[in-house]
Amino acid sequence: MKKFVGKNVVIVALSVFGGFAATAQAADPVGNVKAGQSKVAMCIGCHGIPEYRTAYPEVYRVPMLGGQNRAYLESALRAYKKGDRHFDTMHAIAVTLSDQDIADIAAYYAAQNSSSKSNPDK
Ligand code: HEC
Repeated sequence: MKKFVGKNVVIVALSVFGGFAATAQAADPVGNVKAGQSKVAMCIGCHGIPEYRTAYPEVYRVPMLGGQNRAYLESALRAYKKGDRHFDTMHAIAVTLSDQDIADIAAYYAAQNSSSKSNPDK
């Protein structure tokens, strides 16, 4: 019973946060950290793992994004999107991102620093 209650609290907290992120996105369309946080779910599978290595499609060292320069992150994502920088999985992902998504995601990752280690979304 205790466990069950704890689970519900987490679900409620997540829903509240989700609503907040959506609101923040609507209010401030320019490189928004909160909006970015809601858009990195698909990046965490590769960029948020210990040692930063992918297992698929092959073992490959994945760069850490948290704390990198915002302009650098934006230009890297645009380069993957345009095909100027080649990496198949990153290209496949970048083409799904709008310029707004890229700005938000870059803002989000750039805002992280070594003291953000409690942030699971690195
Ligand atoms: C399937 C695994 C995978 C996923 C999912 C993924 N990435 Fe990547 N990403 C990589 C790998 C591997 C590299 C290094 C590629 C290279 O050498 O160019 C990379 C490189 C990058 C770089 C360049 C970093 C640098 O230091 O130059 C950026 C920025 C980036 N990814 C952002 C993202 C974002 C944002 C998402 C989610 C929208 C994402 N990635 C999702 C595997 C992934």
